[in-house]
Amino acid sequence: MHWSHTFYEQQDRLTGYYSKPIHPFHTGLAARVTAHRGQPGTLLELGAGGGQFATAAALAGHTVTALDLYARGGEHTRRLAAEHGVTVRARTADFYTADPDGPFDAVCYWDGFGIGEDADQRFLLSRVARWLTASAAAYVDVYTPWYWAHHAGFTQRTEGYVQTYGFDADGCRMLDTYAPAGGDPLTQSLRCYSPADLRGLLPGTGLTLAEVWSGGAYDPRAGVYDPQVELGKCMSYVAVLRRA
Ligand SMILES: C[S@@+](CC[C@H](N)C(=O)[O-])C[C@H]1O[C@@H](n2cnc3c(N)ncnc32)[C@H](O)[C@@H]1O
Repeated sequence: MHWSHTFYEQQDRLTGYYSKPIHPFHTGLAARVTAHRGQPGTLLELGAGGGQFATAAALAGHTVTALDLYARGGEHTRRLAAEHGVTVRARTADFYTADPDGPFDAVCYWDGFGIGEDADQRFLLSRVARWLTASAAAYVDVYTPWYWAHHAGFTQRTEGYVQTYGFDADGCRMLDTYAPAGGDPLTQSLRCYSPADLRGLLPGTGLTLAEVWSGGAYDPRAGVYDPQVELGKCMSYVAVLRRA
């Protein structure tokens, strides 16, 4: 089985990451997508995790479908949405095979792009192109090679696990390893792309790169996260993709 079918469940067990409440970051991101669209509409979120963004988007007026492989993430999404008095259609499904009943005015994929090889990203992006209405956009978080190459070696220790970042320079992949106390280590490996690399992936997918929104960066020496830094320093950027 591919690591992505087990990693996130185990990560949740160790960190509780998927059962957190909505953070102001999610509300801000939902507002940014809404402002970019001009109005709320139908929105598909891929790899929606615990539904924090999906619920924030529903609160901003979008009609949201949240898709994730991880069933407990979907359960948390429904619970969180209900707590906030909105509805999110949470589906437990694989985005490589699911039919999410589009088209959508927006497709979002936060923190997760790059799981497979280039051919997998192309395959997923071609599916995304078919889920978009003519005027829609996809918003995809893409990890940068420069931040993750530099960040390799950073380690966090908790009572339950040690988390270490690495970088596969040959494959241009961020490696994120959890070593649970007394258990086997598990690693998430995400392909990192510059905007130029991403443009090279897109021909044939039906998408073009319309905008690049640089994201934030964590400075491990200062222990500070800056939510908005220049592209050459950020951990990830949002690729705004439109139908070619
Ligand atoms: C790093 S988590 C990010 C979760 C959420 N987007 C967030 O920002 O909090 C990546 C998510 O992608 C989901 N995922 C990975 N592969 C998937 C697939 N093939 N189909 C659907 N979801 C998938 C995982 O289960 C996980 O919830």
